[in-house]
Amino acid sequence: MQIDLTGEVALVTGSGRGIGKAIAVALAGSGASIVLNDINPDTISSVKDQLTSLGTKTLALRGDVSNRAEVEEMSKAATAEFGHVDILVNNAGVVVRKPMEEYTEDDWDRVIDTNLKGVFNFSQAIGRTMIPRRSGRIINIASIMGEVALPPRASYVTSKGGIIAFTKNLAAEWARYNITVNSVSPGWTNTEMTGKYFAQEEVRKFLLERVPLGRFAEPTDIADLVLFLASEHSSYITGQNIFVDGGWTIQ
Ligand SMILES: NC(=O)c1ccc[n+]([C@@H]2O[C@H](COP(=O)([O-])OP(=O)(O)OC[C@H]3O[C@@H](n4cnc5c(N)ncnc54)[C@H](O)[C@@H]3O)[C@@H](O)[C@H]2O)c1
Repeated sequence: MQIDLTGEVALVTGSGRGIGKAIAVALAGSGASIVLNDINPDTISSVKDQLTSLGTKTLALRGDVSNRAEVEEMSKAATAEFGHVDILVNNAGVVVRKPMEEYTEDDWDRVIDTNLKGVFNFSQAIGRTMIPRRSGRIINIASIMGEVALPPRASYVTSKGGIIAFTKNLAAEWARYNITVNSVSPGWTNTEMTGKYFAQEEVRKFLLERVPLGRFAEPTDIADLVLFLASEHSSYITGQNIFVDGGWTIQ
């Protein structure tokens, strides 16, 4: 299967590092022009240099996905630069691991606003530009935690379950505009988000014993599925949540 995204434009949120960066690199490798976004300007600037040196047209936009005004501005900047966005990957996310009885309102809001409202903000802003073109692919990064809980992560689990439900609703609403909307749910993946957690020997052992394939995912494992969902080969798939979890959710 050949994936050619030449002439297409992809916007990936939270693409300064980790899974988002791997997705941006994979999409660029198939010929897409890339709009990077992250709340951290330093990381996207270095990813931009990397992609530009490989010949990819790249725009780096610092901004907070939970802030509607900033999202509106970033969407305008992306279309001003490239004329359109064909592929939107809502990847930016944060986690708070804390017992429910100790949760603050701020802990709750920060996770829900970034992970869930961020998906709403960008899907609406970019979706409005996809509708008149009768074409678009939206891919939301959810999690195994949207399906099965592993406490203590109340706001994270809620946000990811919300993304999966939001994805189904949006897919049903925008199918008539030929916009597909799917979510990808990674299992335990080697990134900065999980680095300190995986470094604890007992945690590592506990998790690996429960992954049927016996290893953590690499960001490229997630990016490979996103690349397929961004391509024409997935044009009849919409509203689905697909796990890339080494089998975590099957038992
Ligand atoms: N690593 C895992 O095991 C795992 C598992 C399941 C799902 N996920 C999901 O995959 C996505 C990427 O995770 P990762 O492991 O690469 O995490 P990461 O922490 O390494 O990277 C997340 C990126 O998002 C950016 N970001 C955070 N808040 C932002 C905001 N408000 N606006 C814009 N950018 C923001 C960060 O600066 C960072 O560059 C997240 O949605 C995460 O929930 C990760």
